Amino acid sequence: MFPTDVESVSDANLNVYRIRGHRPLVGRIRAQAAKNAVAKQLVASLLTREPCRLYDVPDITEIDVVLDMLAEIGAACDRLEDGSVDIATPRIASTTVGERYSGFNRIPILLVAPLLHRAGTARVPVVGGCNIGERPIDFHIDLLRKMGAEIDEDDEGYTARADRLRGTVIALPYPSVGATENAIFAACLARGTTVINNAAVEPEIVDTVLFLQKMGALIQIDTDRKIVIEGVDRLSGARHDPVRDRIEVASFAMAAVATGGRLRIEGADQTAMITFLNTLRKIGGGFEVDPGAITFFRDRDPLDPIHIETDVHPGFMTDWQQPMVTLLTQAHGVSVVHETVYEQRFGYTSTLNDMGANITLTNDCLGGKDCRFTDRNFPHSAIVQGATPLTGREIEIPDLRAGFAYLLAALIADGESTIFGTRFIERGYVNVPERLASVGADIDVPAQLLARDRPVAVPG
Ligand code: EPZ
Repeated sequence: MFPTDVESVSDANLNVYRIRGHRPLVGRIRAQAAKNAVAKQLVASLLTREPCRLYDVPDITEIDVVLDMLAEIGAACDRLEDGSVDIATPRIASTTVGERYSGFNRIPILLVAPLLHRAGTARVPVVGGCNIGERPIDFHIDLLRKMGAEIDEDDEGYTARADRLRGTVIALPYPSVGATENAIFAACLARGTTVINNAAVEPEIVDTVLFLQKMGALIQIDTDRKIVIEGVDRLSGARHDPVRDRIEVASFAMAAVATGGRLRIEGADQTAMITFLNTLRKIGGGFEVDPGAITFFRDRDPLDPIHIETDVHPGFMTDWQQPMVTLLTQAHGVSVVHETVYEQRFGYTSTLNDMGANITLTNDCLGGKDCRFTDRNFPHSAIVQGATPLTGREIEIPDLRAGFAYLLAALIADGESTIFGTRFIERGYVNVPERLASVGADIDVPAQLLARDRPVAVPG
């Protein structure tokens, strides 16, 4: 059963969810470990020959694909009954990451540095990920070259060679999550010291740094987005309990507020979510923080509108934006959301409008934050006029986080919604229908509606 083949991931998971709205969600949900930390920690395990263990690895297709990729490289991966994954790569069996992984996610480019450290060469396909903007990898290529890698690019991918990477000073043009992780992986075993200026400091990155520290790495996170890594000669195996998924926590939190319910989310971490919690409070969402859990509920009715600008951590996450826009359709008045991380992350709003929302997009920067998309003709600000009742309908999901925005819309809509393309949700969220049903959602996965005849979008 394991690891899952990427092609079967593309072809399978053609489930359809059917949701009848207006049920308050009440109960408990256990937060899963963050996929965007776990995936990188599995990659980090390649930096040693010794076995590593990650606890409570989410059983989602994104992780299955990463494990599949690593198995082809030579990793022995074993998912234990308690949800842990044991992974060990005593020798690199192949330095080529198959082209079939092209376009699925961002992981192949993160494999270059570990493969260079272990084998001196790497061949990876062009990368993909959710369809939310151009998503170039120029920062990755530039930093690897600066650290001594020779990289040839062709239409299908990248071929890299290096005897030993060397430490250097890297100034990222933007605090990219993936480029910061790439630089860290490259620097851990490089000769000398690497300084990453303008680094991303997302909690998932800090969590991967904790894992690497256990493995023997010397990584200092300084003030002002500066990360300093002193290269060491070898890393050893380690065990790690990954940080919880703050995107998932926020998604369920918004579902509790939107439906007028009350959800206790176990494992939710306040420190990773300060901006989200402030935002939720301002619009009328309530929360109580207990040791090891946060309970979310509706504090005011109606909800108030707000102005939000997405940003890198510690700002308002771009991955919280989509369900938040759905929630804001239920706030009385005009909300404004300025997306500054991705240029094309409002495509999903047209379906919300079809359900009854009143959302207008504009190319203007509606906010004061520095924005790379000024004057570049991307519809990257949204004006949400609420409150508007939503009506259930057939919905096709375009990407992972838009998927949850649609689930949320269906949960508060009048009538029934039929949601296609749920493989995008299953890519990042564990057992969503079962967990939503366990807290009172009227949701089922009708076998007779399996989307045999629907067009199958390519993952990513
Ligand atoms: C990670 O993507 C996450 N993915 C994304 O989550 C998340 O939205 C994003 O970080 C921001 O928090 C994973 O961790 C697997 P970036 P990543 O490099 O690393 C530009 C989800 O739904 N950029 O920080 O790919 C880029 O185009 C996913 O879970 C360059 O221009 O994001 C974007 O505008 C979606 N050149 C911005 O930086 C580069 O070489 C931020 O991207 C690299 C990035």
